[in-house]
Amino acid sequence: MRIYRANTYEDMSRKAANIISAQIIMKPDAVLGLATGSSPLGIYRQLIEWYKKGDLDFREVRTVNLDEYKGLAPEDRHSYAYFMKENLFDHVNIDPANTHIPNGLEKDEALECARYNEVIAGLGGIDLQLLGIGANGHIGFNEPGEAFEKETHCVRLTDTTIEANARFFETMDQVPKYAYSTGIKNIMQARSILLIASGKAKAEAVNQMLTGPISPACPASILQLHNNVSIVADKEALSIYDSL
Ligand code: GLP
Repeated sequence: MRIYRANTYEDMSRKAANIISAQIIMKPDAVLGLATGSSPLGIYRQLIEWYKKGDLDFREVRTVNLDEYKGLAPEDRHSYAYFMKENLFDHVNIDPANTHIPNGLEKDEALECARYNEVIAGLGGIDLQLLGIGANGHIGFNEPGEAFEKETHCVRLTDTTIEANARFFETMDQVPKYAYSTGIKNIMQARSILLIASGKAKAEAVNQMLTGPISPACPASILQLHNNVSIVADKEALSIYDSL
């Protein structure tokens, strides 16, 4: 694992955007695994800026998102499909046909999970997987549990995740309780991984990921076993090490 320390959220975002940008320059038809949440917003803003300057071209880029809320339509402004359009896809020259997100409206879980695994396999796997991290150590929507979930699955979100995500909804009742998420095997098969973490609320999860036992209790801890992981974290997310 390579750890890059950033001073601020903006610094973290720029450093991480540089890594994604390098991937696109080296392989214009790269398959990017993308993430949602507040953490990647600065990266997406930076990528859009470089695209507008003519420094980046998304024409051949393919994307697969980590997850989607079950029950939400892509047009629902709370859905991750909407988030991706709003925060990245609508602002760059990516072909919408090359962007993939689990279908939150598919009620047949087995069917949707199998379809999404096929999508990833059909793209030849993921070149660079971008990840945020939940305060409980979740990646994608792989929540702490008894076992590492392998491939795309439908997950019951934990109460802490539901609470953390409530800020995007008007009422608590609106927050979906279930989501489709790619699994640890999908993530671990990515050829490279870029995890970003910002803020004090992530410090303990980052510490568990880096130094804790490899255990489904902290899903991100599995990344210790991947041979090409870059972590870009700001000072606050790394604050546990300040006194060491
Ligand atoms: C959600 C997403 C994750 C994301 C996490 C942290 O649960 N499914 O992919 O990493 O939130 O989000 P944030 O970056 O907003 O803290």
